[in-house]
Amino acid sequence: MRARRLSLRLGLWVGLLGLLQAVAVLAFAYAVMEREQSIQRRTMLVDKVEHARHMIDDLADDAALRDNAAQMVDVIAGHDELHLAIAPRGTSEPSVGFSRESAESLLRLRRDVWESDGFLEWRMSESGAPMLSLAGTVAIANAEPYDIVVSVDRSEDAKLLRNLLITALSSAPFALAVVILSGLLIVKFGLEPLRRFQKAAAEVTANNLSTRIDPRGMPYELQDSCLAFNAMLERLDDSVKRLSDFSSDLAHEMRTPLATLLGRTQVALSRPRGAEELAEVLERNVEELQRLTRLVADMLFLAQADRAEAAIDLVAVDLAEEARTVADYLELLAQEREVTIEVSGSAYAMADRNQARRAMTNLLSNAVRLCSYGTTVTVQAANRDGWAFLEVSNEGPTIAPQHHERLFDRFYRVDDSRGRDAGGTGLGLAIVKAIMTLHGGGVDVSSGRGKTTFTLRFQATA
Ligand SMILES: Nc1ncnc2c1ncn2[C@@H]1O[C@H](COP(=O)(O)OP(=O)(O)OP(=O)(O)O)[C@@H](O)[C@H]1O
Ligand SMILES: [Mg+2]
Repeated sequence: MRARRLSLRLGLWVGLLGLLQAVAVLAFAYAVMEREQSIQRRTMLVDKVEHARHMIDDLADDAALRDNAAQMVDVIAGHDELHLAIAPRGTSEPSVGFSRESAESLLRLRRDVWESDGFLEWRMSESGAPMLSLAGTVAIANAEPYDIVVSVDRSEDAKLLRNLLITALSSAPFALAVVILSGLLIVKFGLEPLRRFQKAAAEVTANNLSTRIDPRGMPYELQDSCLAFNAMLERLDDSVKRLSDFSSDLAHEMRTPLATLLGRTQVALSRPRGAEELAEVLERNVEELQRLTRLVADMLFLAQADRAEAAIDLVAVDLAEEARTVADYLELLAQEREVTIEVSGSAYAMADRNQARRAMTNLLSNAVRLCSYGTTVTVQAANRDGWAFLEVSNEGPTIAPQHHERLFDRFYRVDDSRGRDAGGTGLGLAIVKAIMTLHGGGVDVSSGRGKTTFTLRFQATA
């Protein structure tokens, strides 16, 4: 499907709206002008009739009027478009009448129905010229009253209006073209900032996610999109980096046990050995293989948790009770380091029993393994603000704040050499975090003044 051009569409819309507006303005101007012309003409006719009436008032009789007919032309002097007709009431033959228009206006007075205020709009029968007439009467002392009709030929007025229309309509296509073109240009330049998005998107590859859009100079309406776009790139960049770190970490983690296995087996095979000696080698290999098996199982679990495929079966559990079970299970390890595990309080949570135990085992085994020799590891359970909390605290070396955020990353160990020597793969806390995410809860760490506390947060029972 061909994409429709936004600039063209908006340009056409702007043009159409401009056209409608121009038509409305023109119609209004036309109506106002026509009305003004009409008012002016009517006022003029009223003046002229009054003028004629004054002149006739001064005359004594019919004969005097006829004698003064030539002087009556003063009424309309200087106005070619004006016509005057004066006739005794009832006659159609003007006593004073200088044109065909005056004669016809008198005929109209006798024949047509005039407006109540004495006006009549009509057209000349031959030329069709638009006319406006005003009729009045005047009484002469010794004669019948006279009718006075003053008419104006409005052809010029009509021509003026027609010219206005023609000028406006003939310039309309050009005006329209200018409006559409300006609309196109405005939209084109208005969309220019979007090209920065296009440029940035084109530069992005899996190997280059460092591109960002400079929000400076970006229009207000696009600021949010720009920030969201940059934040998306930031997240992608971070995820890709973690993914690549993760693969290299995984290879690194597997290389050591595999190399040990290979080396040890090759040495064993290098010369004939007794059954006892071989059994000892195999036993030590089993340890290494167990470690690898655990690593693979942990990885598998994390992969499933990532895709939210790990099934969790939420039931109401008392976290303190589960912690006691885990503590019993770790008893041997604790005794080795003369560590006591103390569990107190109670917290009722909605949790998957096995997963919750797994998270607690990871935290407690870290605490027992890393606490100072001969100290006490405390586990405290409590319900608070609709959550169920379980705090695992131990005395020992503290974790510097800069490690806190990354502590839950896969294969992250604060002290790399110490972690691996102690048998850790650095997946324990990543698993704890995955389990807590699956539960809709979370895990936090605080560490200082020789004390480290990890807090699990589950949803409390309803
Ligand atoms: N209670 C604690 N006190 C001090 N440091 C801790 C504590 N718990 C965890 N850490 C630090 O966090 C790191 C990561 O812990 P994590 O449990 O993820 O890995 P691990 O214990 O090294 O290996 P794994 O648990 O996979 O056997 C540890 O290596 C350790 O440096
Ligand atoms: Mg651990």
